[in-house]
Amino acid sequence: MYKSLDSAMNTLKFSLLILACASTAQAQQNFQGIGRAATPAEVAKWDIDVRPDFKGLPKGEGSVAQGQDVWEAKCASCHGIFGESNEVFNPLVGGVAAEDVKTGRVAKLNDKSFPARTTFMKAASVSTVWDYINRAMPWNAPKTLSTHEVYAVTAYLLNLSGIVEDCFLLNEKTIVQAQERMPNRNGMTTRHHMWAGPEMSGTNKPDTSNTACMKNCITDVKITSILPDFARDAHGNLADQNRLVGQQKGINTLRVSTSTAAKPASAPKGPPAAVLSLLQSNNCLSCHGLDKKVVGPAFTDVASKYPSKVDYLSNKILSGGSGVWGSIPMPAQTLKPADAKAIAEWLAGGAKP
Ligand code: HEC
Ligand code: HEC
Repeated sequence: MYKSLDSAMNTLKFSLLILACASTAQAQQNFQGIGRAATPAEVAKWDIDVRPDFKGLPKGEGSVAQGQDVWEAKCASCHGIFGESNEVFNPLVGGVAAEDVKTGRVAKLNDKSFPARTTFMKAASVSTVWDYINRAMPWNAPKTLSTHEVYAVTAYLLNLSGIVEDCFLLNEKTIVQAQERMPNRNGMTTRHHMWAGPEMSGTNKPDTSNTACMKNCITDVKITSILPDFARDAHGNLADQNRLVGQQKGINTLRVSTSTAAKPASAPKGPPAAVLSLLQSNNCLSCHGLDKKVVGPAFTDVASKYPSKVDYLSNKILSGGSGVWGSIPMPAQTLKPADAKAIAEWLAGGAKP
């Protein structure tokens, strides 16, 4: 009885195997001459995620002291010497108390008067921090850190947050101890539909209950965040409002539109409406002030540096760059070449109202 079941299972496994091969062969036949199967080495390069149970974490180690060197060389220029942030970048460290390390809940998250939400206030799992740094940082050169450097710099951030001692050596084993002291380790909920956890399987309703409408669909959706004109001054000028942890600069929300109606007398005169709307819809003003440096140079300064250089400017807008105005890079912008040119013409013509 057992035996025949066993051999039935084997036959099943065998035929599944054949099926799998057949379908690969079929795919290759359908797309002849196009592509090839990924090699295991190629798949391994993509397969870098580190899970909360540390599956996927490569072996390695790094000390707090080594991490400080990595931090100062490769991270501090954007995130600040103590992770408190610099210019506009989000603070990573701060807002965590020794008590939180014991309870696993960050008290300041419930304190409405505390305006910032730093990484170590929010992150429930140290694997998230490790994985994020490994795949995405430094922002201007992702995936250039060695495994050793990722361990070290993570150890340094854990130390800055009061989670591990100065002498801590972070490796694939001691990371479990760090996890046990993560300040917000008990602050994560899986009771929502972004999470395919056991709580959500089967019985729960999905988070939307609309019927699908497939008529008159909008074909060109553009997602931006623009303040409507009437709301610009509703809470004062966000750019003038400093936050407690780091400096999270808001955009300049003074009215800069050409409608003179409610414009404060002292506000700088904005560009022509067509240009202004391009600058707003492409989020240029979150990094550039009209006549004030924010992350990037003031547009008036750019204008006086490049009179009539339309081609240079529109290339730079499309491809981004670094090193002309400081160490912070400008990412390549995704806008239509014609729109980049319209902005470039306005700049090359002196950034006039
Ligand atoms: C050129 C600027 C720059 C440099 C250099 C840089 N970062 Fe970042 N970092 C950013 C930006 C911008 C973000 C937010 C990115 C986003 O949200 O898409 C960020 C996000 C992060 C976050 C996640 C913050 C959160 O709460 O979501 C961590 C952790 C981090 N950086 C660590 C590092 C480390 C470690 C280094 C050095 C190895 C580094 N960064 C270097 C700009 C930088
Ligand atoms: C994430 C922030 C950011 C955004 C968004 C951004 N810029 Fe920049 N921009 C910068 C920084 C930083 C620099 C300075 C780069 C350097 O030093 O070379 C810069 C430089 C420039 C320059 C001068 C280039 C040079 O070679 O001197 C122009 C022109 C410019 N930006 C236009 C734009 C326009 C137009 C947009 C919107 C389509 C835009 N930027 C969006 C950050 C940004």
